Amino acid sequence: MIKSLKFLISAGPTREHIDPVRFITNASSGKMGLMVAESALNSGHQVKIITGPVKLEYPEKAEVIKTITALEMHTAIMQNFPECDVLVMTAAVCDFRPVKTSINKIHKSDETFILRLERNPDILLSIRRSEKKQTIIGFAAETNDVIVSAKRKLEKKRMDMIVANEVGGKDYGFAVEHIKATLLFRDGEKREIGRCRKKDIAEMIVNEATRIHNKTN
Ligand code: C5P
Repeated sequence: MIKSLKFLISAGPTREHIDPVRFITNASSGKMGLMVAESALNSGHQVKIITGPVKLEYPEKAEVIKTITALEMHTAIMQNFPECDVLVMTAAVCDFRPVKTSINKIHKSDETFILRLERNPDILLSIRRSEKKQTIIGFAAETNDVIVSAKRKLEKKRMDMIVANEVGGKDYGFAVEHIKATLLFRDGEKREIGRCRKKDIAEMIVNEATRIHNKTN
């Protein structure tokens, strides 16, 4: 019998406001997180999704916590991580936020406008595994040096597996149905998947997460 695990899944972009009507964000649609959530539910697991602003509908069976900014997503994940068995970080968290968010709409007065940005906290770097030994899976969206960069992130952010994900191509990457991926594991294993449906990679993620979790717990 399959043991039901608690999946915590981050999804979508974050949104960093400049003023009430303008913000910085990225092209993430939340699709990858949705697919992982569906796949985990189909395998009989419990799912909690921490999402940034997205236009899609999550499964009714999933608990959804809505966030807007990277700081909000950071807080929500820190609060929910201790209870989870598996964390899948599909969210494209904005690396920077405006130093100041104007309360009122900024009017165009000068020809140039300088926007100062500061770093957002790295969520994966902030979390610490508890005695439960959570399994952590992340993504690396890269346009170049895909494998080298992804391997560096896997080690630095102490993940069990990273999905090295080439973006910038026409028919794979952000906001489309396909992904071009290689799975890299903590023990050095490298599994090249190539271009495939996000749905298929989501199933692989759930299977691998379950396998790793069962091995370490
Ligand atoms: O360094 P990079 O942003 O490419 O790392 C990607 C991985 O780290 C993703 O799994 C993403 O969800 C996660 N991440 C994070 N906190 C951030 C930025 C990214 O946990 N501030």
